[in-house]
Formats: sequence, structure tokens, C-alpha cells
Amino acid sequence: MEHYLSLKDIDSLPNWVAEAKSLKANPLHYKSLGAAKTICLLFFNNSLRTRLSTQKAAMNLGMEVIVMNFGSEGWALEYGDGTIMDQGTSEHIKEAAQVVAQYCDIVAIRAFASLTDREKDEAEVVLNGFKKYAGIPVVNMESSVGHPLQSLADAITLSEQNTKEKPKVVLSWAPHPKALPHAVANSFVEMMHLQDAEFVITHPEGYELSPEVTKGAKIEYDQEKALEGADFVYVKNWSNYKDYGKVLNQDPKWTMNAKKLGNAKFMHCLPVRRNIVVADEVLDSSQSLVIEQANNRTYAAQIVLKKLLEGLN
Ligand code: CP
Repeated sequence: MEHYLSLKDIDSLPNWVAEAKSLKANPLHYKSLGAAKTICLLFFNNSLRTRLSTQKAAMNLGMEVIVMNFGSEGWALEYGDGTIMDQGTSEHIKEAAQVVAQYCDIVAIRAFASLTDREKDEAEVVLNGFKKYAGIPVVNMESSVGHPLQSLADAITLSEQNTKEKPKVVLSWAPHPKALPHAVANSFVEMMHLQDAEFVITHPEGYELSPEVTKGAKIEYDQEKALEGADFVYVKNWSNYKDYGKVLNQDPKWTMNAKKLGNAKFMHCLPVRRNIVVADEVLDSSQSLVIEQANNRTYAAQIVLKKLLEGLN
């Protein structure tokens, strides 16, 4: 594996999940693998879980870690070829990516969607710019269209918690006052395509995700019907995809509560707005898996870094 940019970089999800679970049982087993290797974590956007879990994973593998809040502390980057740089950007991705590669062996990047220009967001200019010019492995810590470290952690959590041969898993949209990206939902759907499960997506009409992501997955507009018999309910807001980045619906009827959840386990990537996305009664109950999902972010990152380090050594 050269890079970890999406779930497509995983050769066998069941094998990776099994290996991640054994890393979780013995996190320091490969402590010497990353000796004398450095990872740069570049954040163009805020983070709690991704920042700390990826750093922890690298430390478990014996790596040195450099963290930079590039969005607030770095020079504004230019991505266009042949641009006359007389406007707001100060440094081109061609130099910036090569410079970063002088200081580290692996670079991990968080760069969210703008939600103003769908075509530009889907071109993934930041991630692809580093991939093209850095010449070292690149890890996606949430890009415009995907969050594959989160969905790998979610696959680990599902594997740990599932007791059925073919569980029913529901991805339910929830209201939110701000325009949120599609990355987490996209990667969760992509991960569910690789699972032996009954998978249903539920959201208000008009809130369809990209058809290139959903690829024929079952969509049920009636949330109550979708939730019938669910074993796992993954709740997430996303802004409108067709009317790109718009908040067209904030209907509180879509908020998850204990009655709707029934006996299912509750999942969310966090951060979450209490009593908007999900009621306190759910988050504070033993049915909530959110803290275990956050814990598994370390082992998802650790299996990814381990595979990349094995390619370097
Ligand atoms: N779930 C997740 O990626 O959390 P952060 O945005 O806090 O990193």
C-alpha cells in the first residue's frame, strides 16, 4: 500500500479489522517498527479525535510526530497549474508538499470540503496535491469526500459488538443547524458495501448522497420504517448534496431518541450536538457506542501506519 486515501486502499477489510483488534490487545507490540521515522500531521481544519488518536497510534509504533495547524498557521496554498499568484495565496502546493517531505516519512492531512463548489471539492485538490508532489505516503485524516480512518474504526466497532450472522445496520440522517460535509456518511456507506449486513439509509427526500457512493444501497425515506428491527443505528447529519452544501431541512422529527432506537446500538463519529442530532437519553445510555468508536480510532490509525511503515522498511 502506497497511501491511505480511501477504503479502496484496503485489500481485505476483515483481515485489517482482525489485525487492528490484535493491535488493540497489544498496542506496543510493534514499538520498534517506527523507530527513526517521523509523521507530519497537517490540519487545515479542527479536530479532537483524529489528532489525538493518530498521534497516539504513531507513538505506539515508536514514531516521532510533528503536528501543524496548517489552516491557521501555514501559508495559504495555491493549487492551480500556471496561476499568476498575485492574489491571496502565498505558496504553491508544488513547493509546500516537497518541503514537508524533507521533514517526515509519512504525511497525514485533514482538509474538509468547502461546500461551495462540488466539482472542486470532489477533485480533492489538497490530498491529491500532496500525493502528486510530496513523494511520500499520504494518509487521509478526512478530506472533502471521505473519512476512511473513521469508517475503519467503525468497522472495528461493528465487529466487536455484533452478535448476529447478518445484522441490520441503518444510517440515519439527523438535523443540524450548520452545513456539514458528506465525508463521514460517504465512507460509512462505502464500508457497509464491504459488510455482510442488511443495510438501509434513511433521510428526508432530496437528501440523497452521491449515487456514486450509495451505488444501489437501499434508501427508505420513512425513518420509523427504516429503523424496524435495527441492530445498529449510525446517525449523521450531512448538508444537501444536490443543492450543494445547503441546509434545507432542520426537522426535529429526525432527531434520534430512545423510542426510535429501540434495542439497537447507537453509533456516531462525534463531535455531536446533544438534543439536536440525538437525545441525551441515548448518548447517556449503555446502548451508545460513541466512546468505543473514538477508542477504536487509535487502532484504525495504527493498522494504517503499520502497513505504510512496512512498505518503507
Ligand atoms: N470523528 C472525528 O473525526 O473527530 P474529530 O473531528 O474531532 O477529529
